[in-house]
Amino acid sequence: MGLPTPDTAHLRRPEYATVYEPAEDTYLLLDALESDRESLQALRPAVCVEIGSGSGCVSAFLGQVLGPHCALIISTDINPAANAATKETAARSAAHAVPFEQCRTRFVQGLDARLAGSVDVLVFNPPYVVTPTAEIDSTPEASAWAGGEHGREVLDQLLPQIPALLSPAGRFYLVVIEENKPEEIAQILAAHGLQGARVLSRRAGREHLSIYRFSRGCAE
Ligand SMILES: C[S@@+](CC[C@H](N)C(=O)[O-])C[C@H]1O[C@@H](n2cnc3c(N)ncnc32)[C@H](O)[C@@H]1O
Repeated sequence: MGLPTPDTAHLRRPEYATVYEPAEDTYLLLDALESDRESLQALRPAVCVEIGSGSGCVSAFLGQVLGPHCALIISTDINPAANAATKETAARSAAHAVPFEQCRTRFVQGLDARLAGSVDVLVFNPPYVVTPTAEIDSTPEASAWAGGEHGREVLDQLLPQIPALLSPAGRFYLVVIEENKPEEIAQILAAHGLQGARVLSRRAGREHLSIYRFSRGCAE
């Protein structure tokens, strides 16, 4: 039987009006994590990090996937309402036994020195929609989806940091659409020693969504 999707009904409250509601991209990421359940548990991750946790649906789900196999899940977001929503989603979910920390920060700013070489599972569903550059971070809502040129401008700031964050067996799950040029993303990370593959894809309206998984070797 599949794991339950974390309850995010509290997002209807006005204080969460700017928080990204779980959508097809979110659910595709949940499916990818669930299908890797065995190998993720076998990894026995000490530290998992979700950047841009929004509602907290993915972080809470990761907590369910890993259960007692995980020591800590850190979720970051630049939107303080998202930090609060993530905290509430984690507390409501079946994963509440896993220690969760929320941090209001850009990517992992301020945490990077402590996290260096120790992130076992890194997850990012970035703002990936192709938009004018000026739309990026123009409002809290826009921060959730506005990705600038090729929908890559936010993600491209993070890519060079990823190899330094991951532990030797660490893996990185990323949501992309075709306009983001996923093969180019894979080349950039390959230049930093990370191999990647598309593990799941789905069409949702006009978007062709995919989940890529990167690691130093063949992650399985
Ligand atoms: C597409 S939403 C994904 C939300 C959630 N992870 C999900 O899958 O439903 C992107 C999230 O990233 C956050 N975000 C955008 N830029 C960020 C940055 N530089 N650092 C941290 N979070 C960021 C947004 O506020 C938003 O919550």
